[in-house]
Amino acid sequence: MLHYGLLILLPAALAVPAAIPGPDPVALDHPMITPRATLTDRTPTRVEERDILDSITGLGSYLGSVLGTFPSYVASGVPQFFQGLPTGTAVQSSLGISSSDLAATPTQVLNIPSYANWTEQGWNLRFRGNVYKQPSISTEKLNDLANIFLIGTDIESLPVDQQNQARNLTSAIFVIQQDDETVTMNIEPASSQGNDGTGSGSNAITPGGGSQNITLVGTTTEQGDFDQFLPLANVSGPGGYLQQGNSTLRPQRLNVYANGTNTGNATSYLVPEKGITIISDIDDILRVTRIYQPADGLLNSFAKAFTPWMNMPEIYANWSQSIPDFHFHYLTTTPEQVTRNYMDFIYKTYPGGSFDTRPLNFSDISATLSIRKFLLTKIFQTYPQRKFILVADTSNSDVMKDYPLMATEFPGQVQCIFLRNTSATDSGDKFPYDTGGFEDLNNSTYMFFKVPDDLRGLDVVNGQCVNTTIKQNITFSIQGLPFGLSKKSAAGGRRVEVWVSMLWVAMAAMVFMVL
Ligand SMILES: *[C@@H]1O[C@H](CO)[C@@H](O)[C@H](O)[C@H]1NC(C)=O
Ligand SMILES: *[C@@H]1O[C@H](CO)[C@@H](O)[C@H](O)[C@H]1NC(C)=O
Ligand SMILES: *[C@@H]1O[C@H](CO)[C@@H](O)[C@H](O)[C@H]1NC(C)=O
Ligand SMILES: *[C@@H]1O[C@H](CO)[C@@H](O)[C@H](O)[C@H]1NC(C)=O
Ligand SMILES: *[C@@H]1O[C@H](CO)[C@@H](O)[C@H](O)[C@H]1NC(C)=O
Ligand SMILES: *[C@@H]1O[C@H](CO)[C@@H](O)[C@H](O)[C@H]1NC(C)=O
Ligand SMILES: *[C@@H]1O[C@H](CO)[C@@H](O)[C@H](O)[C@H]1NC(C)=O
Ligand SMILES: *[C@@H]1O[C@H](CO)[C@@H](O)[C@H](O)[C@H]1NC(C)=O
Ligand SMILES: *[C@@H]1O[C@H](CO)[C@@H](O)[C@H](O)[C@H]1NC(C)=O
Ligand SMILES: *[C@@H]1O[C@H](CO)[C@@H](O)[C@H](O)[C@H]1NC(C)=O
Ligand SMILES: *[C@@H]1O[C@H](CO)[C@@H](O)[C@H](O)[C@H]1NC(C)=O
Ligand SMILES: *[C@@H]1O[C@H](CO)[C@@H](O)[C@H](O)[C@H]1NC(C)=O
Repeated sequence: MLHYGLLILLPAALAVPAAIPGPDPVALDHPMITPRATLTDRTPTRVEERDILDSITGLGSYLGSVLGTFPSYVASGVPQFFQGLPTGTAVQSSLGISSSDLAATPTQVLNIPSYANWTEQGWNLRFRGNVYKQPSISTEKLNDLANIFLIGTDIESLPVDQQNQARNLTSAIFVIQQDDETVTMNIEPASSQGNDGTGSGSNAITPGGGSQNITLVGTTTEQGDFDQFLPLANVSGPGGYLQQGNSTLRPQRLNVYANGTNTGNATSYLVPEKGITIISDIDDILRVTRIYQPADGLLNSFAKAFTPWMNMPEIYANWSQSIPDFHFHYLTTTPEQVTRNYMDFIYKTYPGGSFDTRPLNFSDISATLSIRKFLLTKIFQTYPQRKFILVADTSNSDVMKDYPLMATEFPGQVQCIFLRNTSATDSGDKFPYDTGGFEDLNNSTYMFFKVPDDLRGLDVVNGQCVNTTIKQNITFSIQGLPFGLSKKSAAGGRRVEVWVSMLWVAMAAMVFMVL
């Protein structure tokens, strides 16, 4: 679990002035409970950040050797805050929770809002989530644990609402997943979900029938996860039946409740064969995260209430109201343990839709770069006749590779790609991004934009993806490097990964120095 502590500490390196390298391989005993007291807490400033960028080239061959030692800590360029979170028995033993205490704790279910496709056998609904127990942890202990995640501050220095939020998220992380559990779902028509300015929260419709109980096949995995597609019976209700996926263009909405707990309520969507699905990332496109400013990003993810990014909700609400067959799908690679907060925010602020999140079996850092592609491929394969609109921002190197890749791997299915250029809109974003993946795409199918209003008035249904008033500046190479540098991307952007890798390794090395 060494890597866990290291990654959590990574952003702290920003606050540490550059000094002579000399990694001290001191083991972070139990990172979950090791206080960071030895670090000087200082909020990083832009000037210090520049110093680090400046010193990168100077670190030269030293970094070359370190790179060989720590390659797995390097994620997709921008820090992945909640990396390598502890699970199951690791949580139980580190917190000293007895088996009898645990047995007395109620079982909870994280139920992730999902989607169904239309097949020859009828509707095929995906059930996806996690079964766990939430141990009772004292406030004092929760504060200690929360402090591990906070950079340059202490939980007690935060306003009360932020303290509560930080404790809420900490307790969501320190849960004990339950394997070998049988899960039953109670299904019924849903009258609403989400917020698009209309009473029902999205363009989806409520089916006349479909109430049924379904017991999942087999039991939960070792990590407490379940993920399977099962057929729905066409049962009638007071308002009739479920509609067939080849006879309507409207998504239908069903509530899917995990039986035996009131913690596992979700709303899933029966999505017709044809139509348009919008797949939207969340961080820095639907909410303000500033993931590229680590101390800020952490506070925005961990303690502060989630805030919408400018007037993006208005753009999505308009799409929901004006495009009857739009299916909204929110796809984030944030770990499963923290998705309740993401879902809570999305359904209060944006149209109702299905959700995708990082499965627990991908918590291995080496799998980090493949999660988005895995999740995207799954939904593209589920709807071979639908078109997709992909939305995110430039600060994710996996997005920059995987979004254009979908256009190549699933020809004709990517209708538009919209990417917020965070480097152009936020001077705090010093991370380079690689536009090389877009070189072979038709330039009428994608747009880099700056503010939500740039998307206003586009006839996306008919393939209008470009607002001609927005200057594009795409070089099909690595852009946004410090000092105005630009590099030709090589072989799908390997070089930028190495560059960014070095940045993080340098920071990791500095963390080691102060420990
Ligand atoms: C709709 O799908 C069902 C099941 O696959 C099939 O039996 C039926 O013929 C289809 N109807 C149309 C109009 O294609
Ligand atoms: C599903 O199970 C719940 C709880 O056991 C029960 O109240 C409900 O009537 C069942 N619904 C159907 C359609 O069988
Ligand atoms: C994780 O589990 C899913 C099914 O739940 C499976 O399809 C996938 O291949 C697994 N991925 C890894 C990296 O183990
Ligand atoms: C369910 O059955 C009804 C009545 O036969 C039919 O009108 C409806 O299209 C069917 N729906 C599905 C999803 O098969
Ligand atoms: C749902 O759970 C209750 C106990 O909470 C149980 O009595 C009931 O049989 C369960 N229903 C199904 C359909 O599994
Ligand atoms: C989940 O749904 C059930 C059934 O409608 C309801 O009784 C319960 O209050 C809901 N739980 C939450 C947390 O909303
Ligand atoms: C934390 O917040 C989420 C979303 O607001 C809520 O659903 C959940 O019940 C809270 N958890 C705890 C342990 O308070
Ligand atoms: C429905 O989705 C499943 C799971 O992704 C996929 O294997 C299957 O091919 C899809 N069926 C159709 C008819 O698209
Ligand atoms: C798109 O590509 C065409 C040539 O294929 C070029 O004339 C045009 O300027 C490009 N548009 C943009 C916005 O870059
Ligand atoms: C393109 O470059 C111009 C001039 O530097 C800048 O003002 C604009 O924000 C850039 N456009 C995008 C979409 O990044
Ligand atoms: C294009 O972007 C501008 C600037 O954000 C905006 O005012 C306009 O509504 C957008 N749409 C069209 C179709 O020009
Ligand atoms: C709302 O969305 C529709 C459909 O894409 C589009 O035609 C219209 O211009 C949009 N309106 C605004 C104000 O963006």
